[in-house]
Amino acid sequence: MKEFSFKVYDEKIDDVSADIEIILIIDKNMNHKWVKDRDVLEYIGFKADENETVFLPESKRVYSASPSLHSDDIRLSVANAFKKIKKSKFQSVKLGLYTENCPPINARAMAEGIILGTYQFDKYKDKKRDFNIEIIKISTEDYNGKIYDKNSTLKAINEAIIISKATNETKNIVNTTPADMTPEKLAEYANELSKELRGVECFIGDENFLKNEKMEAFLAVAKASSNAPRLIHLTYKPNKKATKKFVFVGKGLTYDSGGLSLKPSEYMITMKSDKSGAAAAINIIRAVSELKLPYEVHAIIGAAENMIGGNAYKPDDVLKARNGKTIEVRNTDAEGRLVLADCLDYAQDLKPDYLVDLATLTGACVVALGEYTIGVMGNSSKLKKSILKASKKSGELTAQLPFNKYLKKLLKSDIADISNISSSRYGGAITAGLFLDNFIKDEYKDKWLHLDIAGPAFLEKSWGYNQTGASGAGVRLCIYWLKEFVYIENSVHKEVK
Ligand code: BES
Ligand code: ZN
Ligand code: ZN
Repeated sequence: MKEFSFKVYDEKIDDVSADIEIILIIDKNMNHKWVKDRDVLEYIGFKADENETVFLPESKRVYSASPSLHSDDIRLSVANAFKKIKKSKFQSVKLGLYTENCPPINARAMAEGIILGTYQFDKYKDKKRDFNIEIIKISTEDYNGKIYDKNSTLKAINEAIIISKATNETKNIVNTTPADMTPEKLAEYANELSKELRGVECFIGDENFLKNEKMEAFLAVAKASSNAPRLIHLTYKPNKKATKKFVFVGKGLTYDSGGLSLKPSEYMITMKSDKSGAAAAINIIRAVSELKLPYEVHAIIGAAENMIGGNAYKPDDVLKARNGKTIEVRNTDAEGRLVLADCLDYAQDLKPDYLVDLATLTGACVVALGEYTIGVMGNSSKLKKSILKASKKSGELTAQLPFNKYLKKLLKSDIADISNISSSRYGGAITAGLFLDNFIKDEYKDKWLHLDIAGPAFLEKSWGYNQTGASGAGVRLCIYWLKEFVYIENSVHKEVK
């Protein structure tokens, strides 16, 4: 991954030297002193329409339209500008801060747009694509010529680097092939990471551990694979006594063939992405540790491969989950919920204040919300609202999918306590969420959130500042959400609205 060097200057942008300058155009009239090439822009027909970007090599300026100064518009327009100069030989660029309200927020969005937007995955390519820009210089001058103290900008950029790096590392895991990222390899990755990070410990449970824990649902899914399953448990503890405990549970299907209810071949492609929830949870721990958040944070990963074979689990099997409930298997492709049922039960033993699972759980969620949006489910409106609020800041899209008692009934089984699929074709994202709800104890009902990331986790076509392939879905959302708690605790308004 490209590591940029960010430098902040409390000087006017014109006094900062760099190979090129990037100028965001917020006002379509281009009536601003920073737009020094107005005549040329007019001459070439540049209208500053959404996503329009132009590079003027003579004046060494890149102009990029930004419909507003909302963080996500800034992320995208800066990413667009970088795309324009990707192949150039320039080494340094400079940018100003634009607004007088809260300049660090803009700097944060710029850094995120740059790091996320320039990500590329070339692990399997012979020729690695080069990118020459090394240094990014940010002047703390705003649009009105006022210069700000550089410390808050530096702090915001450092946070942006941590958050974006965690997102890009998530993409690396998800993009890695199933042969190179088996449950065992994923566990190794988490273990190595724990050694690098401050305050982080890693526990890995093998098949025997899962047997002792009576995680029969999890084990059934993993049975037919020659790559054994792992439960990965990362724990971050801050220096001072933690004020809250968060547990993130990640679906870590390193491959989902569908099992005996085999996926058609065109649906099987991209199923290496079924470990996206796991990759996100692991990298949330990375970011939390690097940001030194004052909370105890756990990641519980259920890593397994859903395969076929003579000993595969079958439709008609009845499994006993860790919490004692029996599950009738009617479709082996609804495997994520089986792994999560046991992992969520294990997670509740940790007595969390908040419990969040991240999973590429259902194709139905993609049908319901489209490819760009994370489905948010749970029993507490307050908690759901808090994540929807964080979503706006993070730039990740979310929408709430409501539970109801009628959908809940569709999971009834004649032979067991519950069926692993709904008896109806409709509402599949919600019935999957309701299946998980069956494994949440009463005292944790209001503390639990389910995030279905099946849509945005893996892109067939690039959009926004996301590349084709993995997007790192859920990482930024959860980190911004966690940071919001820090903010709430430190402010007079303690209420999570
Ligand atoms: N991993 C899939 C869900 C998925 C689909 C993720 C598309 C990403 C993109 C999951 O295990 C699955 O196969 N779900 C089934 C559930 C069904 C059998 C009730 C599905 O969505 O079809
Ligand atoms: Zn499946
Ligand atoms: Zn799956």
